[in-house]
Amino acid sequence: MSRTILGLLLTISTTLAAELVLPSELFSPQVAQKVLATANTVQNPAKYPQWTDRDKGTWQFFSPDTWTSGFFPTTLYALNERLSICPTDELKATDWLGLAQTWSSAEVPLETKTTTGHDVGFLSFPFIEELKVHSNNQTAQTAVNSFANELAARFDPIVGCTRSWDTTDPTDFTVIIDNMMNLEVLFQSANLTGNHTLIDIATSHADKTLVNHLRPDGSSYHVVEYNSTTGKVIKQRTAQGYADNSTWSRGQAWGIFGFANMFKHTQNLTYLETSRHMAQYFLTNLPGDGIVPWDFNAPLDPPRPADSSAAMIAANGLLLLSQGELSLSPANKSGSDFYIDSAIQIIANMTTLAWRPEWQSLLANGTVNNPALNNLTGIVYGDYYFVKNANDLVSLGIATCNGSLTGSTPSSPSASVSGSGSIPSASSTDGVRTSSGAARSVQGRISGLAVAVAVLGGLVL
Ligand SMILES: *[C@@H]1O[C@H](CO)[C@@H](O)[C@H](O)[C@H]1NC(C)=O
Ligand SMILES: *[C@@H]1O[C@H](CO)[C@@H](O)[C@H](O)[C@H]1NC(C)=O
Ligand SMILES: *[C@@H]1O[C@H](CO)[C@@H](O)[C@H](O)[C@H]1NC(C)=O
Ligand SMILES: *[C@@H]1O[C@H](CO)[C@@H](O)[C@H](O)[C@H]1NC(C)=O
Ligand SMILES: *[C@@H]1O[C@H](CO)[C@@H](O)[C@H](O)[C@H]1NC(C)=O
Ligand SMILES: *[C@@H]1O[C@H](CO)[C@@H](O)[C@H](O)[C@H]1NC(C)=O
Ligand SMILES: *[C@@H]1O[C@H](CO)[C@@H](O)[C@H](O)[C@H]1NC(C)=O
Ligand SMILES: *[C@@H]1O[C@H](CO)[C@@H](O)[C@H](O)[C@H]1NC(C)=O
Ligand SMILES: *[C@@H]1O[C@H](CO)[C@@H](O)[C@H](O)[C@H]1NC(C)=O
Ligand SMILES: *[C@@H]1O[C@H](CO)[C@@H](O)[C@H](O)[C@H]1NC(C)=O
Ligand SMILES: *[C@@H]1O[C@H](CO)[C@@H](O)[C@H](O)[C@H]1NC(C)=O
Repeated sequence: MSRTILGLLLTISTTLAAELVLPSELFSPQVAQKVLATANTVQNPAKYPQWTDRDKGTWQFFSPDTWTSGFFPTTLYALNERLSICPTDELKATDWLGLAQTWSSAEVPLETKTTTGHDVGFLSFPFIEELKVHSNNQTAQTAVNSFANELAARFDPIVGCTRSWDTTDPTDFTVIIDNMMNLEVLFQSANLTGNHTLIDIATSHADKTLVNHLRPDGSSYHVVEYNSTTGKVIKQRTAQGYADNSTWSRGQAWGIFGFANMFKHTQNLTYLETSRHMAQYFLTNLPGDGIVPWDFNAPLDPPRPADSSAAMIAANGLLLLSQGELSLSPANKSGSDFYIDSAIQIIANMTTLAWRPEWQSLLANGTVNNPALNNLTGIVYGDYYFVKNANDLVSLGIATCNGSLTGSTPSSPSASVSGSGSIPSASSTDGVRTSSGAARSVQGRISGLAVAVAVLGGLVL
């Protein structure tokens, strides 16, 4: 082994040993308190939180026909799930399922007249969650099937993709990397109806995306424009990123998740490899402080805003990818551990920066759209993936509800500063770590290390 690799191994070893701690904020009672407070501010006519203002963290509300409307009801379903996996007296005091259903209800007529284009996939999320609770609920089934057919109707066989945004020139066929997330509704509907065409559409879309949205280094373009007459790529560019040749971090995060999800549904290794490749770019391009910038290539001066939503989505994608590695035969335990450890570090670093007890949102430091000067806000999908990360860490047996990591060596006295579920003071955002929890198992970490070296060094094990 070369000295460089040894040095890298030692660096990573030191870093992991020092940093593998879950932030206690993940399981703070404030999570449920804030979400409940927002759920109780019912708007008439119905409106949905999307982002906060920059100074006070006050939610701004938008009409149901907005691409993000599904995320708040889906967060309520996530707290209903939290109630079953981590029942506390406080969680039991609220009818989370009832709130989730009420908040979904204004979306129900949308499946026949939405103008959100491909984002019907995001709008379908609460109905997919409802079906996990009541698999026979006709309203939810109809919503999922209608949203799926609406997305399928945007498929063009010449291009091989579903159209993301509508354009004035109909031959200008625009596909954004985010669209990978919307494919989920096609699988869900196919599961309900047995209509395999929907899966063929999802597969075709993913196959085109991995060829035309990815660069050789695993980074991604935000937007690819195809000519729908010829099927050829006209342009690879950005909309929300820094430059056409840069990598917008949220797009990269949607891709990690989206391809890991394609692997989950199809078991096609090409999708697992694509998710790994995108994860490798994301992880090797994180700056030294571990804070996810809004665009990996945005200049450092003036200081580039973070995007906490990209961090939470990427972390959730890495958890999904870790399960893909485990599903291999034989299970790729070291690969799985590596992605779990990376997810935990991203969550920990971003929570330290962005957790805001005094804001209505859980996190600050979200960048909705920096070219449109919309940065440093709370964002509803950042909060949703923050809640989902905590649920998934428990469901996957990685953490307990008090924020400790399982299968772990006992935490060293210095690693366990505050008690379980304690709320840090606002000053914790200065970078003083107040998290509690134990380090992940030494064994897992050592096997993860070899993978870290291989992944970060771009080597094949
Ligand atoms: C069925 O799902 C819809 C939409 O999610 C929800 O509003 C409704 O309350 C559910 N009905 C029952 C009986 O659970
Ligand atoms: C399957 O879905 C496709 C795309 O929405 C649709 O065109 C087709 O009619 C469906 N097939 C059946 C049997 O419903
Ligand atoms: C697509 O190609 C057709 C045929 O070559 C051409 O007429 C049309 O202008 C092109 N559209 C775009 C958006 O480039
Ligand atoms: C299909 O639905 C069944 C229950 O109806 C569920 O157990 C299964 O996980 C679903 N499959 C997918 C791919 O979502
Ligand atoms: C897996 O996907 C790739 C393209 O993305 C395709 O070429 C290949 O045929 C697929 N494999 C299977 C077994 O479906
Ligand atoms: C993007 O292009 C510009 C101008 O050609 C170049 O200076 C920059 O280094 C490129 N950035 C990346 C990430 O390739
Ligand atoms: C988290 O930040 C610390 C420095 O504060 C850094 O050592 C660590 O590598 C970061 N984690 C990630 C995943 O970048
Ligand atoms: C995080 O947000 C705070 C304000 O809420 C801001 O002062 C700080 O510069 C932001 N940091 C980053 C890296 O975006
Ligand atoms: C295990 O996962 C790592 C990280 O994705 C990968 O580099 C390695 O090739 C995988 N090993 C096997 C045997 O699949
Ligand atoms: C963030 O947005 C503000 C306006 O809200 C803008 O003035 C500033 O330039 C943006 N920050 C960066 C680094 O682009
Ligand atoms: C957290 O929970 C685990 C198991 O449920 C328990 O062993 C541990 O002592 C708890 N830690 C704290 C700090 O309460």
